[in-house]
Amino acid sequence: MQNNLLGKFFPNGETFVYGIIGNPISHSASPYMQTQAFLNLNINAIYVPFEVQKEDIPYVIKSLKILNIKGVNVTVPYKEDVLPYLDEIEEDALNIGSINTIKIENRVARGFNTDAPGFILSLREKNISVKNKNIIILGAGGTAKALGYILLKEKAKNIFLVNRTLEKAKKLEDSLKRYGSIKSYPLKNEIINNLIKQADILINTTSIGLKKDDPPLFDYNLLKENKNLVVIDVIYFLTPLLKKACEFNLKAMDGRGMLLYQGALAFEIWTGKKAPIDVMRKALNEILNGLK
Ligand code: ATR
Repeated sequence: MQNNLLGKFFPNGETFVYGIIGNPISHSASPYMQTQAFLNLNINAIYVPFEVQKEDIPYVIKSLKILNIKGVNVTVPYKEDVLPYLDEIEEDALNIGSINTIKIENRVARGFNTDAPGFILSLREKNISVKNKNIIILGAGGTAKALGYILLKEKAKNIFLVNRTLEKAKKLEDSLKRYGSIKSYPLKNEIINNLIKQADILINTTSIGLKKDDPPLFDYNLLKENKNLVVIDVIYFLTPLLKKACEFNLKAMDGRGMLLYQGALAFEIWTGKKAPIDVMRKALNEILNGLK
């Protein structure tokens, strides 16, 4: 049934429903980005935000099946909470312990993690290779775990895991060391100074830089100790860390690419079709630049 006439979409009795679950959810760029992708490929589907409560997660997963919702993304703070309620979990997602994409088919809910491979695709797009590289990861939360895992799987030489709370880094080191070389360090200028000299890539996975008055994680002038360092922040805009990297003429990348590619991979899992990456990129930039 034709329901996308003259560029105007209207849902009908055959429209598939997709969405995103999280809390809060009103800031999410995904509804606009995914909807633009559906429109572009003439897929009869909508993508809506679902703000849900933690205690309702088991019912939410059940409801997805009952209501024949085709797929959802999962965002903060539920990426780990949904895991026990899924019927099947893809291997990388299980190893990472975090789900950001669920596909429902015949009442079977299958979980995926597209954040980690999405990050690798965003690096590839910028010609950044991780094979045999020494990589500093700042932070030891969920994002650090997903990235540490995929970087080791992609044959990074060494991961230097730097965190304010050393015990937390050590715990993460323990869970990832079977995939490759990873060592924990406390967040101290002298230590970072030494690591920067040996590193090829530095990645911030902490939330520092998100707020204007965040104190720096370390003395960012230390970045100038390594002219070949690639500096990456998973935050979606130019943080003080990235600004400093640019000042020193280092290659720098924010987290927009990761957000784009995790969405593109989710789209492909759901639809079996190649994601219209340029359409999704344009949509994402419109949202993040405050144009939509
Ligand atoms: P996510 O799951 O998004 O990665 P998280 O699990 O809340 O987020 O982890 C946040 C990370 O940011 C942690 O590594 C945290 O360090 P601690 O383990 O010491 O708490 C780090 N972080 C948050 N605020 C910080 C600050 N002011 N200085 C240094 N590190 C900070």
